[in-house]
Amino acid sequence: MSSPQEEQEARAELQEVAPAQPVEKVEKAIIIAEGLSKHFIQAGEEIKAVDRVNLRIAPRQLITISGASGCGKTTLMYLLGSLEKPTSGKLLIDGVDVAALRGRAEDDFRRQKVGFVFQSFNLIPNLSALENVMLPMEIAGTRHKDREERARQLLSQVGLEEKRHFHRPGKLSGGQQQRVAIARALANNPSVILADEPTGNLDSKTGRRIVDLLVQLAHQGRTVVVVTHDRTIARLADKRMELEDGRIISIKNNSNVAQSGTTTKTAATRK
Ligand SMILES: Nc1ncnc2c1ncn2[C@@H]1O[C@H](COP(=O)(O)OP(=O)(O)OP(=O)(O)O)[C@@H](O)[C@H]1O
Ligand SMILES: [Mg+2]
Repeated sequence: MSSPQEEQEARAELQEVAPAQPVEKVEKAIIIAEGLSKHFIQAGEEIKAVDRVNLRIAPRQLITISGASGCGKTTLMYLLGSLEKPTSGKLLIDGVDVAALRGRAEDDFRRQKVGFVFQSFNLIPNLSALENVMLPMEIAGTRHKDREERARQLLSQVGLEEKRHFHRPGKLSGGQQQRVAIARALANNPSVILADEPTGNLDSKTGRRIVDLLVQLAHQGRTVVVVTHDRTIARLADKRMELEDGRIISIKNNSNVAQSGTTTKTAATRK
């Protein structure tokens, strides 16, 4: 055991070699994209659906991505959720280089980290709401009793009444189906929720409830990235990104916007 004097000397020595840490705590990004691109060849022509995107998304934030039809929003979300492989560039999720993962390890990682909500719900028509939510847990190897219990809890959390848990998607309204889809995205307790125009197929009142639910998820500590044209959700977001021709052309921090309307122009706008 060292004496208090020795400890003091050791600390003084450390301070000499280690530079002072910045006072502001820099939080690790949960999603980092570097030069992320996805190109398609169609009729002999190359389409740069996502073109050298750089972004950092901090944990526990609500981010919106918007832009004109065809500008690459869905493609970018698929890349961020590693549902598709990039043509080039790098994607780190929670510090892990997704491209380095293979087979089962890649599937497990994606299931564990990311939940995806599609515009068109994408529920399995011949399974009940409950079974739809249980399915990702079954694939992940959760015991039947545990997954049923969790699915019930999640469906209640997203506001689907118990009497509807056994209904098939066809018997549910659009808003109810989207609630089931959100519960399904939460099934394996991912830290990131990616939602591609989750209110696009809903009337404005139902859409508003879904927006509230996504905002609530971000407040509860998840990172929520939403492709949306909905101004309400964009106003509530921590950060708003604008996509044009596969490139991010602006990033706005809402905290700054409230004070000074600051817009950070990215490299893409300075080409
Ligand atoms: N699988 C594919 N094969 C060929 N081209 C594709 C493919 N997927 C997307 N694209 C093209 O990439 C571009 C971006 O498409 P994407 O679906 O990402 O746009 P979007 O911004 O989501 O549009 P929307 O607002 O209409 O949903 C478009 O030009 C589209 O035609
Ligand atoms: Mg789309």
